[in-house]
Amino acid sequence: MLKDCSSQRSGWPEPVSMRVLLSVLYPVLSLTIFGLYPSMTIGPKEGWQVYSSAQDADGRCICTVVAPEQSLCSRDAKSRQLRQLLEKVQNMSQSIEVLNLRTQRDFQYVMKMENQMKGLRTKFRQIEDDRKSIMARNFQELKDKMDELKPLIPVLEQYKMDAALISQFKEEIRNLSAVLTSIQEELGAYDYDELYQRVLRLDSRLRSCMGKLTCGKLMKITGPVTIKTSGTRFGAWMTDPLAATRNNRVWYMDSYTNSKIVREYKTMDDFVTGVVSRTYSLPFKWEGTNHIVYNGSLYYNKYQSNIIVKYSFETGSVLAQRALEFAGFHNMYPYTWGGYSDIDVMADELGMWVVYATNQNAGNIVISQIDSDTLQVLQTWNTEYSKRNAGESFMICGTLYITNSHLSGAKVYYAYSTKTSSYEYIDIPFHNQYFHISMLDYNARERALYAWNNGHQVIFNVTLFHVIKTDDDS
Ligand SMILES: *[C@@H]1O[C@H](CO)[C@@H](O)[C@H](O)[C@H]1NC(C)=O
Ligand SMILES: *[C@@H]1O[C@H](CO)[C@@H](O)[C@H](O)[C@H]1NC(C)=O
Ligand SMILES: *[C@@H]1O[C@H](CO)[C@@H](O)[C@H](O)[C@H]1NC(C)=O
Ligand SMILES: *[C@@H]1O[C@H](CO)[C@@H](O)[C@H](O)[C@H]1NC(C)=O
Repeated sequence: MLKDCSSQRSGWPEPVSMRVLLSVLYPVLSLTIFGLYPSMTIGPKEGWQVYSSAQDADGRCICTVVAPEQSLCSRDAKSRQLRQLLEKVQNMSQSIEVLNLRTQRDFQYVMKMENQMKGLRTKFRQIEDDRKSIMARNFQELKDKMDELKPLIPVLEQYKMDAALISQFKEEIRNLSAVLTSIQEELGAYDYDELYQRVLRLDSRLRSCMGKLTCGKLMKITGPVTIKTSGTRFGAWMTDPLAATRNNRVWYMDSYTNSKIVREYKTMDDFVTGVVSRTYSLPFKWEGTNHIVYNGSLYYNKYQSNIIVKYSFETGSVLAQRALEFAGFHNMYPYTWGGYSDIDVMADELGMWVVYATNQNAGNIVISQIDSDTLQVLQTWNTEYSKRNAGESFMICGTLYITNSHLSGAKVYYAYSTKTSSYEYIDIPFHNQYFHISMLDYNARERALYAWNNGHQVIFNVTLFHVIKTDDDS
């Protein structure tokens, strides 16, 4: 018996029956949809129309469908959209890979910590069993140590969940990618809207996941790896944290004074082998070694002034320059090593910052967040750490980390959170391999510290822990 299904006439049929219908009518549709024979395309201007419909003996719907002739069903438009989707998925899987690298690196560290904790817990239990033979004071010490480690447990748990989340994303992306590739050949056999929604959902989840994973508290500094040995004892080198992943240009600014020559290398390999791709002559000399390249522009301290200059590599012009109010300069408030390192421009996950000292703050470090276009100060924090007693400083996720020296034995000693406007003393050692550090800067894209170590260009890796969200954080 034939059953009428013309009730589907108005609006979109639901996806499943749509697919049945499409597969049945694929040969017919392919003519109309793809417009291979334009003369046969007699459909209305928009939307699908079911002209007649019936159900056959096998229960399949047999309909005559006229597809809309406009962009939605034009082969070119649809392929273009699909190509875009495919590209988006590829971009997402690249991001996932980057995330994965980061988490794997940190995960190893986390596992080690976890093992230590387990060991401690076991020992603790043994001691508890044998309590009578232990002096009360030793017992208390162990107990305190255990209590100190307790907050790490939720952090570790969180980490495991994040790792699981990432592998799930990877699978989803792989699935989606496969689907997209297959339907490039079989255009039209899929509900484009549904796919599009899937990609969007994945995209927004990925973004929030990345936001969560990329910020955290500095736990450990490993390395360094020596990339190159070149230049004088003092200088700066860097990559652009906002450049696309494929773009890995390196900039090199030897010396802390009396120079305006910036060398550019296309890749890290070119930097190592010394193949310069471009040389720029800046309109003004720089001072110090605390410059950065951010989003294609160089930001640096103009010599004998507290002016910050924004210089575009692309146009070779100064896009902005502005004096930093009250900031000491020209060895008034340098870092411990001197070298006119008074004004330190830096960038992290949250944007651009400048670190300096003022008379108003008694020569102690002042942190200002600045607008990367206008160089205007957006907000300022006064710390109580003397700039002249700071070896170097760098910003990660809105927290300024200060080292206590530029010489051997230097460690990260003090952390100031701009989020809570509070500080703490910390103790994170790092290996000052060549005994003198004149530049130490965090690169959020690489999640690494670039350093100029006595005529050696070195990189440290950093391990960050997520700051666990608590109720008062929200
Ligand atoms: C993919 O990434 C490239 C490079 O970052 C970008 O130009 C392109 O617009 C991205 N594509 C999509 C669909 O997001
Ligand atoms: C990926 O596809 C496989 C096979 O179709 C399916 O079993 C799996 O659940 C899919 N995974 C995700 C995350 O969608
Ligand atoms: C980077 O520069 C591009 C244009 O060159 C601009 O559209 C984008 O907003 C900039 N990003 C940041 C974070 O400043
Ligand atoms: C940083 O970690 C990456 C990825 O694990 C590794 O390839 C690189 O050699 C490390 N660099 C340093 C300086 O430890």
